[in-house]
Amino acid sequence: MINCLGSEGLEPCYDARAKQWDACRLSEIHNVVKMTKSSYLSNITSVPLLDSLQFVPNRSEFQTLKNLIHSVIEMDSDLTFGAAINFVTKCKNELKWEDLSKDTVMDVGCGYNFYCSRAILHQFPNVGRLIALDMHPSIIMKTRLVRDEMFKNKIMSNIVQYCAADIEIRDSLQTYKGSIDKVVSRNVFHQIENKELAIENIYHLLKPGGDAALLFFFDNPIFTWYCKIMSMEKWSKYIDTTKLISPYFPGKLEKDYYKNVMQSVGFQEVRSEIINIPLVYRNDEICLNELLQIIEGIFNIPPERNDEFKCDLLECFKNIIGSKSEPICYTIVGLFLFAVKPSISLASEN
Ligand SMILES: C[S@@+](CC[C@H](N)C(=O)[O-])C[C@H]1O[C@@H](n2cnc3c(N)ncnc32)[C@H](O)[C@@H]1O
Repeated sequence: MINCLGSEGLEPCYDARAKQWDACRLSEIHNVVKMTKSSYLSNITSVPLLDSLQFVPNRSEFQTLKNLIHSVIEMDSDLTFGAAINFVTKCKNELKWEDLSKDTVMDVGCGYNFYCSRAILHQFPNVGRLIALDMHPSIIMKTRLVRDEMFKNKIMSNIVQYCAADIEIRDSLQTYKGSIDKVVSRNVFHQIENKELAIENIYHLLKPGGDAALLFFFDNPIFTWYCKIMSMEKWSKYIDTTKLISPYFPGKLEKDYYKNVMQSVGFQEVRSEIINIPLVYRNDEICLNELLQIIEGIFNIPPERNDEFKCDLLECFKNIIGSKSEPICYTIVGLFLFAVKPSISLASEN
């Protein structure tokens, strides 16, 4: 069952997690995860499974990771698109979006499947302009692979435009300064190291009176595990370096941290909503199978070391989530943020 808990409900979870963070945030993890943007980009030749991990809200039952990352297996699945539609519907309700025919919407971190951009187009077919922004310039090449006629037509008619820029680099965003009515960003901020700066830059992009809507996982044990495995010296030498490793920067777990960041930047009517997504594996074997799927193709382990590798995968994951017995339960924590830039800009901008 998915719990949408308020801050009170989350307090115990924070305490328990704090210990795990100490163990998980080893500097060696950061050596791997904190890849410089240039090496990150130069390493991109294919897209890893985790890049497509999608949040599927409103689920009524416990489920395995396999179900949650259905989209990983079927890259353009209806399920994932449905999750993006849910996000846009939530934006519409929270921010009272009605007619966007005169609005410019920007999708920050649009990704190669353009799920969120396409969800906006399907919910608001008359949107004035949609800017799909991503730091990865080759994503534009992928538009032709997207099986979505409406999306393709909107590209042809120049309603959808593409912008290769980094939300952490203000200079790369100058063209759009103060010109955007609505910024959305779904499932991106966990790849952003300086989230505070990215939030400031979103403020800078918005027109006075504009809206921002963000959704990201700020605590995902699977990502932590993935980074930890990548950084283990005995296994890292077997990584296929032609594969893209998405960076992961977990968010700050303090209550209302990002709400306060948004307010200090100048946003008003800031709302944050934390979502706990509990997941369970019935036994070790099921868990290990799921973990193996996530790293499929990334490691070239010699056959004689396979058993040892599998043992480490499972043990590492169980240590991270603090699981000692079956079933194996853990929680992914996601965060929605909705905010409005005041009509008369109060914060100093440069
Ligand atoms: C999980 S994917 C995209 C998810 C997509 N928004 C959706 O709704 O399905 C995350 C994307 O964020 C992009 N990204 C990560 N850091 C970024 C940054 N600093 N600036 C712009 N894009 C970024 C990545 O290149 C990647 O395409």
